[in-house]
Parts: sequence; C-alpha cells; structure tokens
Amino acid sequence: MGGGIAQVVAGSGRRVSLYDPYPGATDRGLAAMRKSLARLAEKGGGDPDEVLGRVGPVEDLVAADLMIEAVVEDASVKEDVFRRADAALPAEAILASNTSSIPITSLAAATSRPDRVIGMHFFNPVPVLKLVEVIRGLETSDETAAAIAGLAGELGKTPAEARDFPGFVSNRILMPFINEAVWALMEGVAEPEAIDTIATLGFAHPMGPLALADLIGLDTCVAIMEVLHAGLGSDRYAPCPLLRQYVQAGRLGRKSGRGFYEYR
Ligand code: 3HC
Repeated sequence: MGGGIAQVVAGSGRRVSLYDPYPGATDRGLAAMRKSLARLAEKGGGDPDEVLGRVGPVEDLVAADLMIEAVVEDASVKEDVFRRADAALPAEAILASNTSSIPITSLAAATSRPDRVIGMHFFNPVPVLKLVEVIRGLETSDETAAAIAGLAGELGKTPAEARDFPGFVSNRILMPFINEAVWALMEGVAEPEAIDTIATLGFAHPMGPLALADLIGLDTCVAIMEVLHAGLGSDRYAPCPLLRQYVQAGRLGRKSGRGFYEYR
C-alpha cells in the first residue's frame, strides 16, 4: 500500500521520499506505481514520468512535513518506526499511520508529539478507492485532524473520521465479514467461487470476501482479527483456523501467488 499512497501523494504535485529498508521493496513499489500510472494514463491521466519524477527512494527516514507509515501490521514494528520518525522529522511535522487496526494512541505514546500523530487509513487499490479513514488518537489535536482531512480531499479522497477503537470502523465491519466467509468455506457450506458469487451478485460488492482477502493479504487479515479479538474481548472475533492455516502454509493471497485462489 505504501507505493499506492506515494503515487497519489506525488500525483497531487507533492514530493515524496520512499523509505523501506527491506531489500527490493522500494523497487517493487516503484514498479507497481509505474504499472498503475500507465493504466491511469491510458484513460487520460497525467504523464507517469512526471509523477514518478517526484518520488525518490531514500536510505533512511528524512526530514519532511508529513510521514505516512505503511509497514507490517505489528505494533512493536510500528512503534519503532514512530520512535525513529519522532527523532528524524521536524517537531511540527505530522506522523500518520496507514494502520488497519493498531491503536493510534499507542503509536502516539512512542513519540514526544502525540497531538501530531493520527491514523490516515487508505484502501486497496489506493489509486482507485476514494476513502481515507481518519483516526484520532486520544491526544490528536483538532489542527492535525483538520490538516489530514484537508490533505485527503486534495488527494481526491473523501475523509471520514473514526475514534481509536479496535479495527476503527472499516475493519470492525469488514474483517468479521471476511472471517465468516472463511468459516463458511471451512465448514463446507460452499466452494470459494460460490461464496464470492453470492457476495458480488447478491450484495453488489465489487468482489467477494475471499477474493478481497487475497487482495488485502491473508496475513494482514489474521493480524487485524487478532487486534479485534484482543481489543474487543469476544471470541466471535477469533481468526478462523483455516485462515491461520493458509498463512502457515505461505498462502498469503495475491502477493504470494496463492491464497483462496491462484494468481499467475
Ligand atoms: N491503479 C490504477 N487503476 C486501477 C488499479 C490500480 N492499481 N486497479 C484497478 N484500476 C482501475 C482499472 O483500470 C479500471 O478502470 P476503468 O473502469 O476506468 O477501466 C477500474 O479500476 C476497475 O478495474 P478492473 O476493470 O481491472 O477490475 P474491477 O472492475 O474488477 O475492479 C477493483 C478492481 C478496483 C479492485 C474492484 O474489484 C474493487 O473495488 N474491489 C474492492 C476493493 C476493496 O474493497 N478494497 C478495500 C480493501 S480493505 C483495505 O484496503 C483496508 C485494509 O485495512 C484491510
């Protein structure tokens, strides 16, 4: 998602520094951006090279007005990024997280500027989906929330505000839906194709819950369910055993080539 976020921010005329210490990650992000921008250009979008010209990979966190963090859904990894960003970015900079479920308040507590820490949650595929869920931590200031909602608008997105409760609004609704579809599959209620056909044609969803889980990443789905389970304290949020088993098998969805479906 980091690549998609960098793309829409650069597309609005801003300069973006892309940082990921994982080998090859920024190259993969840039390749995805090139592909997506080419698709948009075919439909009259701007010049891909002009947008890509505003995106520069960097070797470490650098000074900026805003950081948008999009690392793995792991609280300790995210807190470490926020601690380091607090030291690297100017005191007035906003530190935002694209987290699906990790509490914004705990990320804010890892910094010396909790009033300038906020959730800025995009949706996959970022260049296409129009929502930004804006999540206020306990101490997020009105100015920070207004700045991020304003930025979302300038990126062509619609902001909607949620409080810092487990899964916020989006994943509190979406993940139990996906998890229940996996239970239906595990219990042999229907084949994957039938489950997804029922959701696409029956509820007019653009894709079914199992195909969507493959798009999001099954490891991310498990991580979000675990946050809901621990944070809301009810077993109805426990990740379905089949979802866990697919992750154990390395079937992570589109990114690994196989999840509920195969991708070539
Ligand atoms: N970049 C640019 N354009 C893209 C794109 C990309 N990465 N992906 C799709 N598009 C464009 C296509 O070019 C096409 O444009 P057109 O209609 O003008 O020709 C349009 O989007 C539709 O794409 P396709 O024709 O390839 O395929 P679909 O019509 O099946 O749409 C989809 C694909 C946009 C992925 C659609 O199925 C969809 O919206 N699915 C639901 C996605 C969703 O629910 N995302 C939220 C996930 S939850 C999340 O991210 C939060 C996290 O916390 C878990």
